[in-house]
Amino acid sequence: MTAASQRRAPLRQQLRQARRALTPQQQKAAAVGLAGHLPDRSLVQHATTVALYIANDGELDPHLLAEVLHARGKRLALPVLHPFHPQHLLFLEFVPGQSLVANRFGIPEPALEKPRVVPMAELDLILMPLVGFDDQGNRLGMGGGFYDRTLGCLEMAARPALVGLAHDCQRVPQLPSEPWDVPIDAIATATELKTLGG
Ligand SMILES: Nc1ncnc2c1ncn2[C@@H]1O[C@H](COP(=O)(O)OP(=O)(O)OP(=O)(O)O)[C@@H](O)[C@H]1O
Ligand SMILES: [Mg+2]
Repeated sequence: MTAASQRRAPLRQQLRQARRALTPQQQKAAAVGLAGHLPDRSLVQHATTVALYIANDGELDPHLLAEVLHARGKRLALPVLHPFHPQHLLFLEFVPGQSLVANRFGIPEPALEKPRVVPMAELDLILMPLVGFDDQGNRLGMGGGFYDRTLGCLEMAARPALVGLAHDCQRVPQLPSEPWDVPIDAIATATELKTLGG
């Protein structure tokens, strides 16, 4: 185990605990705030197809955002555990309110129907859940490496814009990063969209 990965495990626990400790009122306010400002940002306005996620474990909840984006004609997608490629994700078309099925982590996802698979090349923007982030664009996820593997396969030019969604309590001054970590381009909180890194 590397020095960075040794430091990441307790940090992950601490940050997950902090986001789970947010009250339902704080979670609701954050979801309303996000849905209120993010759709008007040019990065989102220019996107045709946007991936987001079903909130879990205290993550900033994009369900209201999904409704606004759907109403504005965006095509939405959700991640699904890849059936053949272990620890990779596939993205499937999603319409708010559609029925979902729990995956092996208990996270709801669309049923795997081939015609609804959205090729990676068609994703303009991925709104990603995260456990922690820093101002350099480093992202700490849940530790499975799912997003890292899925995005790490793509050429830089083919990569969709990557925006992490986070509560303020998920920001850390500097995250220990690993060579395989795929950095995010920006972070969206309840109140702002901030470009990260260089
Ligand atoms: N591109 C990759 N190729 C091979 N192994 C990888 C790759 N990306 C991540 N891994 C492996 O996955 C494990 C978890 O990675 P990491 O701790 O960065 O997950 P994470 O970023 O928190 O999770 P996620 O990407 O799912 O949000 C690591 O042990 C690492 O070895
Ligand atoms: Mg990672």
